[in-house]
Amino acid sequence: MEKIAVYPGSFDPITNGHLDVITRALSIFDRIIVAVGTQHQKESLLSVEERVKLIKGCVGKRVRVASFNGLLVDFLKEQGLTTVIRSLRAVSDFDYEFQMALTNRELNEEVETVFLMTSKEWLFLSSSAVKELAMNKADISKLVPDNVARALKDKF
Ligand code: PNS
Repeated sequence: MEKIAVYPGSFDPITNGHLDVITRALSIFDRIIVAVGTQHQKESLLSVEERVKLIKGCVGKRVRVASFNGLLVDFLKEQGLTTVIRSLRAVSDFDYEFQMALTNRELNEEVETVFLMTSKEWLFLSSSAVKELAMNKADISKLVPDNVARALKDKF
């Protein structure tokens, strides 16, 4: 049976750190669904449609891109899946990730969260940092895929 996992996030925008996690996940799973969470619209720079389009533009064939509104556990149920991928960069990520994984498990005990570590190259990288840099016209071409760098350049 095919092993499929869901990689949820805000992806506002997707970065090379996310892409690194997707590549690592593809060495464990046959297919990945990148799921853009739309519920808590925390001051997002890009619309959900823009984020989905940008992700589609930089991932390979074994990756499907979707968006979900509401709870992650409900999206997983709709898809008939139970595995979630999240990444950990530093210890500071842990509290939030631990809380989220346990909440999801509380909501559905079949849900399992697999944590992957990003490459040390991207330890410092976050979508918020990319936005701040782009907003201030800094060069982000080494931090994000080309289509994202172009989109943010157009935006600002
Ligand atoms: O990239 P982010 O912002 O850390 O991603 C967070 C996301 C979208 C994965 C998370 O907020 C989420 O799963 N939201 C859906 C709502 C939900 O299921 N909440 C219960 C778990 S805390």
